[in-house]
Amino acid sequence: MKILITGSAGQLGKELLKILPERHQVIGYGRDMDVTDYAQVVAKVADARPDLIIHCAALTNVDFCETNPEVNYRVNTLGTENVALAAQKLQASLVYISTDYVFDGEKGSPYLEYDLPRPLNHYGLAKLAGERIIESLLDHYFIVRTSWLYNKEGKNFVSAMLRLAKEKDELRVVNDQIGTPTYAPDLAQCISKLIETDYYGIYHASNEGSCSWYDFAREILELAGFKKVRVIPITSEEYGSPTKRPKYSVLDNFCSRERGIFQMRDYRSALKEFFQCYN
Ligand SMILES: NC(=O)c1ccc[n+]([C@@H]2O[C@H](COP(=O)([O-])OP(=O)(O)OC[C@H]3O[C@@H](n4cnc5c(N)ncnc54)[C@H](OP(=O)(O)O)[C@@H]3O)[C@@H](O)[C@H]2O)c1
Repeated sequence: MKILITGSAGQLGKELLKILPERHQVIGYGRDMDVTDYAQVVAKVADARPDLIIHCAALTNVDFCETNPEVNYRVNTLGTENVALAAQKLQASLVYISTDYVFDGEKGSPYLEYDLPRPLNHYGLAKLAGERIIESLLDHYFIVRTSWLYNKEGKNFVSAMLRLAKEKDELRVVNDQIGTPTYAPDLAQCISKLIETDYYGIYHASNEGSCSWYDFAREILELAGFKKVRVIPITSEEYGSPTKRPKYSVLDNFCSRERGIFQMRDYRSALKEFFQCYN
């Protein structure tokens, strides 16, 4: 297959660029294809003539999206519409990466693909609007919702904890939001399996298991060998972010499990591998 990746310099895009060329012809665009520029997107996609587009480009800083809603909707929603329209012109299929933040966190047990979304913040609203646009424009799409993504390079919770642990003796970390950290190379593997199928639709794809940000911070520091740094659990209110986040956003990878497409390992096992590669 000929595959075009948007956001190919990001955490997930980079992983896809590493693994997909084994079986496919792959072209990656970073900021050199600005997804907010409709004419540019259509021209570049038409030039590449992909069979499949994997749309990873997004603004992922949730607090920035909350305080800059117009930029958020411009990139995360209209940008997605531009990519979907370009795919539609060529009858290419599309993979869109969405988020656990489409849910409100009230369910209290893992979210299935069929649960009703109700985002609490602008980032979640913009990503959900992107899902809706794709569903209305395209027949052949995979919407892949993931959560708490991290990788070796990139701005993520793991890199933030490692940086802060070098600077401080004490870290205050939110303990009342539960979710699942997902290792970008694991997600890339899942996507590579999914695109071999024609089971289009919505998929949840997070590592297995769940934890709070506080639990995760402790696991990171332990594996990284920061024995003297104290981690203090705090509430979301005490943290004081401008953004409301779901208290519980664990995803159940129900559809892929039922269809036997991919299975994710436990997040702890992925984190251990991350540190083996990191050290
Ligand atoms: N990160 C998470 O925790 C998380 C959780 C759930 C779902 N997701 C979704 O997973 C996907 C991949 O996330 P990720 O963590 O790999 O994100 P990432 O590392 O932030 O990568 C996104 C890439 O998109 C680029 N980008 C931003 N605006 C653009 C524009 N107008 N045109 C072209 N490229 C643009 C970014 O460039 P700059 O770096 O220059 O801004 C960045 O390289 C996204 O769709 C995200 O919404 C992420």
